[in-house]
Amino acid sequence: MIEQYVKNLSLNLNNRHPDTLLILGSGLGGLAENFEDAETIAYEKIGFPQAGVAGHKGQLVVGRLGRHEMVCMQGRFHLYEGYPPQLIKDVICAFAQIGVKNLIVTNAAGSLKTEMPAGSLMLITDHINLSGQNPLIGKNNEKYGPRFPDMSLAYNLDCREKFKAVARKCGVELHEGVYLMVTGPNFETAAEIRAFKVLGADAIGMSTVPEVISAVYAGMKVLGVSVITNLGTGLHNMQQSHNETLAQAALAAGKLQKLLELYLEEE
Ligand code: HPA
Repeated sequence: MIEQYVKNLSLNLNNRHPDTLLILGSGLGGLAENFEDAETIAYEKIGFPQAGVAGHKGQLVVGRLGRHEMVCMQGRFHLYEGYPPQLIKDVICAFAQIGVKNLIVTNAAGSLKTEMPAGSLMLITDHINLSGQNPLIGKNNEKYGPRFPDMSLAYNLDCREKFKAVARKCGVELHEGVYLMVTGPNFETAAEIRAFKVLGADAIGMSTVPEVISAVYAGMKVLGVSVITNLGTGLHNMQQSHNETLAQAALAAGKLQKLLELYLEEE
């Protein structure tokens, strides 16, 4: 599939050469609206499946932001939709093959600590893969990446420092922490949230980890930011809902957009 995606990307990119891939989480699709000279490409033109969850569009947006030529995935492939994790590896490897060097990944996540309430931004420093799946399982083709990729610095330190400096400059509070992935689609039980805290997680979500594993495999530099949309189950007495996730993500999206724009101007 990778070669087919590479061919279709090249055919549809009109000689544009993005260096940065931006993946937007639930309710954050608006971040691509400020691209200059933007063009959209429907996923089906590349051969990608039509991503189908509320809050996601299923298209690529190509355009300039700051000093970078960007390609944005509006809509991602969640494992809970039944997509195989290897699809995510194929997509990321195809972008790497056309010259993309950086991944900026955002998501909506639940918080495991009350000091980091809904509306907070969390810079991801590391992750815990509790999905029980891995996008790299299967025969490896060394052309795309190594069999046993190192994950000790999955979230690039330079990128993190630069993003933190931008947040300080803007006076935006930026938390830092470990993102834990489960497949979902159910929200967690209160007992699970307690257990994940013991494991060392600060935020929880249903995405990002397969993309990051694939990007590190493909040699990309990764910056990851979570938009906290709710406290984990049991940390407050409200029920969890996807609509609340979308509403909170939309509220915090402006803050994240400002930081990303400045980051891309400086990076
Ligand atoms: N749990 C898992 N995924 C999520 C949550 C949550 O509480 N909030 C947003 N995505």
